[in-house]
Amino acid sequence: MIERCQEDTPRPRFGPRARTAVVLAAAALLAATSAAFLPGTASAGTTLGASAAEKGRYFGTAVAANKLSDSAYTTILNREFNSVTPENEMKIDATEPQQGRFSYGAADQIVSHARSRGMSVRGHTLAWHSQQPGWMQSMSGSALRQAMLNHVTQVATHFRGQVVAWDVVNEAFADGSSGARRDSNLQRTGNDWIEAAFRAADAADPNAKLCYNDYNTDNWTHAKTQAVYNMVRDFKSRGVPIDCVGFQSHFNNDSPYNSNYRTTLSSFAALGVDVQVTELDIQGAPANTYRAVVEDCLAVARCNGVTVWGIRDSDSWRASQTPLLFNNSGQKKAAYDAVLAALNNGTTPTDPPTNPPTTPPTNPPGGSCTATLQDGTRWGDRFNSTVTVSGASSWTVVVAVTSPQKISSTWNGSPTWDSSGNVMTMRSNGSGNSFGFTTMANGNWNRPVVQSCTAS
Ligand code: G3I
Repeated sequence: MIERCQEDTPRPRFGPRARTAVVLAAAALLAATSAAFLPGTASAGTTLGASAAEKGRYFGTAVAANKLSDSAYTTILNREFNSVTPENEMKIDATEPQQGRFSYGAADQIVSHARSRGMSVRGHTLAWHSQQPGWMQSMSGSALRQAMLNHVTQVATHFRGQVVAWDVVNEAFADGSSGARRDSNLQRTGNDWIEAAFRAADAADPNAKLCYNDYNTDNWTHAKTQAVYNMVRDFKSRGVPIDCVGFQSHFNNDSPYNSNYRTTLSSFAALGVDVQVTELDIQGAPANTYRAVVEDCLAVARCNGVTVWGIRDSDSWRASQTPLLFNNSGQKKAAYDAVLAALNNGTTPTDPPTNPPTTPPTNPPGGSCTATLQDGTRWGDRFNSTVTVSGASSWTVVVAVTSPQKISSTWNGSPTWDSSGNVMTMRSNGSGNSFGFTTMANGNWNRPVVQSCTAS
C-alpha cells in the first residue's frame, strides 16, 4: 500500500511554527555549502546518507560523544550518515545534573561534529521518566512540573537553531493492553504534562519539529500504538504544537517487526504529523527486516528518515543481539547492503502533485552544453529536481531557486553558492552527466531555473 499525501490543513507544514522550514533549510544550506563533507553530495547511491538524500530523507545514527575519538567509529559515521542523535548526552541527567545548573559539553561536541559535516541533529530527549537526575527524581507536584518546564525551555533554547527535531516527550505510555499513560512522577503532575512540555518547547524553539517518541508503538494493532495515536489526534484537533511522532523500532524476538508497520506509519502521517524511525535496531540484523523497515518509510510521504541506534554492533545498547548494520570490526553486514539497496531502489510515494511545476524544461543559453531540468519526487514540503547535461563531459551549471525556497541537499555534483543562497553553481565531479537536488518549498512551488551551462 502506498500512502497518498496527507495534509491536515492548508497552513504551512509546521503549522504556526512555520519558521521551522526556514531553519531546516538554513541547516540544509549549511550542509550544502559544506558539500565536500556532505554524504549526500559526495557519492550518491553508495552511502546510506547519500541514498536517503536522493529520496528526500535522512539516514541517521545514535552517537556517543566518548566515541568521537575512535577513528574507526568516526570514519563510518562521517561516511555513511547525514543525521545524528546524541545517544545519552541531551538527556535530563546529562544536561541538568544539578537543578538550575546546565551542562552541555558532551552534547555540544556531538552537535558540532555533526553540523560541521553537514549532518542534521535530532534532539533526544527533553522530558522523560527515565534518566532523570537525582534532584528531579525526588520531586513531585507543581515543583516538578515547573522544573520540567524550565528544563525544556532551557535546553531547547540552548540548542535553538541547531536541532531540526526534538523528542520532546519520550516513552510516556504504559506497555501492555491498558492503553494508559505510564505511571511516573511526571504523569502524577497531571495528565496535561505532555502538552505542557510541547508548548514550552514550541515557545523556546519555534523552528524545530517537535516529536513524541516511544517504543512498542510499531505494531498497529497494539493498544499502546492506538493510545499514542489517539493522543496525537487529540493534540492535532486542539492545536497542541506537535509536528512528528518517533517510532523507536527496537525489534527483537519478543517485540518483532510486523508487516502492519507501514500502516502504523501512514496512519499517524494521516493525522497531519511527520513520522520518523528514531532508534532502529533488529535482533540478529536480518537483512529482509531491515529492508522492509526502510521500504515502509519510503512508502510514506511524511516519513522523514531512519535513525539506527548505533553504528557497530559493539556500540549497541543490546550488543549481544548484534542488531546493527556494521559488525564489531566496522565491516558492512548483509543488512547494510539490504538497506542501501532499499534506499536506492525503494518505493517512492505516489502522492499526486497538487500544484506541480509544469513549465517545460529550461534550456539555457550560453556555453557549449545544454542542461535540462526535470521534476522529481514531490513531498508536502519539498521536491526533487534532476538536471541532465548534454554536450560536455565536464561542466558548470548555474541553477536558481526563488526565495524563500532553499536547496536542502544535492547529489552527483560539487555545489557552491552565491551570498543569497538561492543561486547554486554546480560543477561536475566525475559522477556523470546529471545531478540532483532537493528544494525546500517554504510555500513557493516555483520550478528552479537553469541559468547557464558552460563546458569546463
Ligand atoms: O557512562 C557510564 C560509565 O561511566 C559507567 O561506568 C557505566 C556503568 O553502568 O555506565 C555508563 O553509563 C551508561 C550509559 O548508557 C552510557 O553507556 C548508563 O549506565 C546506561 O544506563 C546508559 O544506557 C542508555 C539507556 O538509554 C538509558 O536508559 C543507553 O546507552 C541508551 O542507548 C539508551 O537509549 C534508550 C533511548 O534513550 C530511549 N529509547 C530506548 C533506548 C534503549 O534503551
